[in-house]
Amino acid sequence: VSELVPVRWLGDSVEYLDQRALPGDVVYRQARTVDDIVEAIATLSVRGAPCIGVFAAYGIAVLKASLPPERFVEAAARVRAARPTAVNLAWAVDRVMASPDALAAAVAIAEEQMRTDERIGQSGLSLVPNGAGIITHCNTGALATGGRGTALEVILAAHRAGKRPRVYVDETRPLLQGARLNYLELDRAGVDVRVIVDGAAAFVMQREQIDLAIVGADRIAANGDTANKIGTYGLAVAASYHHVPFYVAAPLSTFDRSLATGSEIPIELRSEEEVTSFRGTPVAPGACAYNPAFDVTPGTLIAGIVTECGVLRAPFEPAIAEVFAAPRTSTA
Ligand code: MRU
Repeated sequence: VSELVPVRWLGDSVEYLDQRALPGDVVYRQARTVDDIVEAIATLSVRGAPCIGVFAAYGIAVLKASLPPERFVEAAARVRAARPTAVNLAWAVDRVMASPDALAAAVAIAEEQMRTDERIGQSGLSLVPNGAGIITHCNTGALATGGRGTALEVILAAHRAGKRPRVYVDETRPLLQGARLNYLELDRAGVDVRVIVDGAAAFVMQREQIDLAIVGADRIAANGDTANKIGTYGLAVAASYHHVPFYVAAPLSTFDRSLATGSEIPIELRSEEEVTSFRGTPVAPGACAYNPAFDVTPGTLIAGIVTECGVLRAPFEPAIAEVFAAPRTSTA
């Protein structure tokens, strides 16, 4: 099976896999202009917090090479604001803007993501018992990071280590990143996986042997409160009730220490049509909808945050401060 590469540098433009068409169709597109880049991010053709960062980094390199300085600054600001919740977008844009060589900085971000994800997988491996029942939400694999994945890479590392995980993937309404993308990535890797509707998660914890829940993150505040795909908070509440340890897996680029708590994290509101229609077909014609794309799980519900620098444990505020204070190697 061919690998699904979500973002690729083509020399003068950036190519991306249109994730809206998966799993049915594998469609690659090229982004050359600021409109192309913003549209790819805003429509979720490119999605997942770290992958948005990698794509935006290459996008900024394209724009820097093609636009006069005044228009470049304005265009970069539009890319930075294309989606509000995943902090990796602003983090990557700021890092490329601060570098004298935009392309070198973008390449470094992409390469680091690969190594970071490998380390996240290794950090999380000991959290997964043999034969573990695992529940997860949204998509957190290579498609979502441009590397190997975060929460999904922990599951894959356990699978490669012969631990035979049994995975339940929430379908992840309304855009079905779980059913379409997480299932695809786990199934291709040969993992024992089934999709459940989001509403089945608590029942699965009640009736099946579930040993842990693990999800990704879009932004983590200084106290460990974590924004992730809508439905994550409900999953954490259900996990707490059923005494299932709930883990978050994310790179340090997903932490935003400028925010004291999760209540300050901006939450993206998306169109009502995403809820009232299914792939363009109205299912609740004329209905009003409320469509927050993310929610915030309090750090108090999180058993550990799996990073490239190990598993952080509560109390998260000092644990997060400590990991950022420690010296780290970086290439750009
Ligand atoms: O709206 P999306 O599909 O970009 O949301 C993605 C998620 O919520 C992921 O869980 C998160 O970005 C982590 S990806 C490793």
